[in-house]
Amino acid sequence: MQVIICDNAQQVAENAAHWVSELINNKSNPVLGLATGSTPISLYQQLVAKHQAGKLSFANTTTFNLDEYQNIAADNAQSYRYFMNENLFDHVDINKNNTFLPTCTQAQNPREQGLAYEAKIKAAGGVDLQILGIGANGHIGFNEPTSSLASRTRIKTLTQQTLTDNSRLFKPDEEQPTLAMTMGIATILDARYVLLMATGKGKAKAVKDMVTGGVSAMCPASALQMHENAIVLLDKEAASELSDHNYYLWADKENNKVNQEFGLFHNF
Ligand code: F6R
Repeated sequence: MQVIICDNAQQVAENAAHWVSELINNKSNPVLGLATGSTPISLYQQLVAKHQAGKLSFANTTTFNLDEYQNIAADNAQSYRYFMNENLFDHVDINKNNTFLPTCTQAQNPREQGLAYEAKIKAAGGVDLQILGIGANGHIGFNEPTSSLASRTRIKTLTQQTLTDNSRLFKPDEEQPTLAMTMGIATILDARYVLLMATGKGKAKAVKDMVTGGVSAMCPASALQMHENAIVLLDKEAASELSDHNYYLWADKENNKVNQEFGLFHNF
């Protein structure tokens, strides 16, 4: 795991945007894995700004989102499709036919939908770079604690903590879905690179468990310890429960020398 401690949340977003731009500018048909939630919004703002400045084109990019609520219409403001349109897709030159989310209506069989999503990712050549946030309970995607580390795209029941954490996003008269389709942990681990962003004190314990705890289904993000190319971008608050800050800061400087010589994605 490459742990990068940034001065603040803005730097986390800028750093993440640099990774995404390097991928898109250096690969002919990049495949990007995307996340929703509060954390990546500033990343998407950076990407939109780069696009508007003529420095980034999404014309050849394919995207796969981590998750989507079950049985939610694309034009429902709470859907993750709507979120992606609002925060990224509507503002860049991406072909929306090449943007995918793991949808599942009431009438559809979640198992079949999950298998179809996995097949679609494979057919696109696999995810090159997967963007991740982390839940306060250590979840990635909607892989809640106890999720199998070998899981694939499937339907999940959200935990009470996740429902409470996300309730801030729902108006009192809006129904909050309790079921979601999510890429599994094994699906996420298949990505060539994963980049997890975490900001704020509320994520500090989950970050500590992910980076220095044992690999456990109780902290799904700890599975990233098994990934060959996992980058963890933190602000100081999210990193506040980690010891060894000096090592991470020093290692980042040394890694930068290698990256400058061989490129960010030298492990492709
Ligand atoms: C979103 C997702 C979730 C979030 C996580 C953190 O697609 O898969 O795992 O990344 O819940 O959410 P925020 O960023 O809102 O704290």
